[in-house]
Amino acid sequence: MIWLYLLLALAVAKGQETCLSVEDDPYLLFGTKTAYIFANLGVPSTRAHDVPGCQPIAFWLLSRHGSNNPEANDIVELQKLGDFRNNIVTNYKNGNFRNTNQRICTSDLNLLEQWQWNPRLNVTFAGDLTADGYMTTQQLAQAWRQRFPGLLTSSRHHYLFKYVNDQLSSNTFKAFTEGLFGDQAESFDIPKENDEKIVRPFKFCPAWTKDVGDNNDTLSQLHIFESKREYQEMISNISLRLGFNYDVQKEIILRMYQLCRYNKAWDVVKISPWCSAFTREDLKRLEYAEDLETYYKYGYGSALNKDVGCTHVKDMMNFFENYVGKDEIPQQQPRAMIQFTEAAMLLMTLTAMGAHQDTAPLTGDNYHSANVQSRKWTASKMAPFNGNLAAVLYKCTQNGNFQVNEEYQVLFLENEHPLSLPGCRVGLCDWSLVKNRFGELVKNCNLDFCNSATKISSVNVILFTFVAFFVRYAVIRI
Ligand SMILES: *[C@@H]1O[C@H](CO)[C@@H](O)[C@H](O)[C@H]1NC(C)=O
Ligand SMILES: *[C@@H]1O[C@H](CO)[C@@H](O)[C@H](O)[C@H]1NC(C)=O
Ligand SMILES: *[C@@H]1O[C@H](CO)[C@@H](O)[C@H](O)[C@H]1NC(C)=O
Repeated sequence: MIWLYLLLALAVAKGQETCLSVEDDPYLLFGTKTAYIFANLGVPSTRAHDVPGCQPIAFWLLSRHGSNNPEANDIVELQKLGDFRNNIVTNYKNGNFRNTNQRICTSDLNLLEQWQWNPRLNVTFAGDLTADGYMTTQQLAQAWRQRFPGLLTSSRHHYLFKYVNDQLSSNTFKAFTEGLFGDQAESFDIPKENDEKIVRPFKFCPAWTKDVGDNNDTLSQLHIFESKREYQEMISNISLRLGFNYDVQKEIILRMYQLCRYNKAWDVVKISPWCSAFTREDLKRLEYAEDLETYYKYGYGSALNKDVGCTHVKDMMNFFENYVGKDEIPQQQPRAMIQFTEAAMLLMTLTAMGAHQDTAPLTGDNYHSANVQSRKWTASKMAPFNGNLAAVLYKCTQNGNFQVNEEYQVLFLENEHPLSLPGCRVGLCDWSLVKNRFGELVKNCNLDFCNSATKISSVNVILFTFVAFFVRYAVIRI
């Protein structure tokens, strides 16, 4: 009996100290900065993926890069947290707490006190793939090979890679091909295309930039959410926890969140001192705030997003068309089309496909509703680091499988799990259904609209060039 009292006394003593860094079951869904392993719990086994009576004949993959370093401007901002940390430590030492029940616990404070900016994380390496991102990418490539051994062979001629030739994507390509081909990958001349207009069409679409990307209205639901009690109360609670008797600026809260989620993506087992500023409830609100942003910027919230995202769906359909109904496949034709991209394009593509669509739009004023709490649009699951969308074309023999009626089937996988689409069986869809669903989208998919609304500004550019020419001419003449 005595041990029970002891335990109770201990629990009461502990109750005064909320140690958020040692939660048994921490909340690890951090929107677009979620580690793949947290988004993708229960990774399916990497044994060969068998569909009885069917052979995989073509593989299409759209894959986000692994965890990366912050961009240069982010590095500057995040480093400023050093000064803020000093204020937290001072608050604690001065006993700046109205309510000690809400105070950060001593061991969390010690973690913060010991925190230092990693000096190797400087602008030279801004935005680059991390060691963890490199490894996860390699492992993902190996997993795909184990799942489709007859299709993803060691012959480089069977592949075509598309990515932008920057540091992040080139290293992603390097990691992925090392996973596929081993050490000799580097000496291989692997077929690749580096056309940014194909990989990131939204960057070349003035109509999208004007109406969505740079349009302040895109963030209006986010701003509504930020003005609500449930968000403001979160800021007050975090401020009190860190010993501030006034509300800390939203920008600083977001900076701490940014570092917390980066930390957990750079090293998934290490405790991040910055995460101890947040309760599970806080983290869910911050996740929703980002979902509101991505929903309108890259998702169903703006009509143009699917008009850009359709380009990748079209790419997939055109690729499969090369195989359907063909008895002879030319040797040099790629069987695997692999694109490396970032969160924006992955989300736009899923939107064009109609995946993760909620019945009602997400808004800033109904956080507690069942719609929001069980929403389908969650960037943590749709676009974590290394997030990916795969489509595999199968050719089936008649009567080889009583569940398969058609000769051609497409298996859709999201982060290696079957993607649920209406009319399909655990991600496996008849080719005719895929054609029906995406045919119209693909037929009407072109980026002409991108430049149609900006004719006037291109006239201005021409005029400007003209004037500039004459000015220069005049200057030279004088
Ligand atoms: C960044 O760190 C690396 C290695 O620590 C160093 O070689 C490089 O000069 C640094 N770059 C800048 C801009 O400080
Ligand atoms: C959009 O918001 C930014 C920053 O709040 C502001 O500077 C800009 O003037 C706004 N643009 C429009 C068109 O309202
Ligand atoms: C803020 O703290 C109060 C008091 O502990 C608690 O009742 C409330 O649920 C908290 N709010 C949020 C958003 O976490």
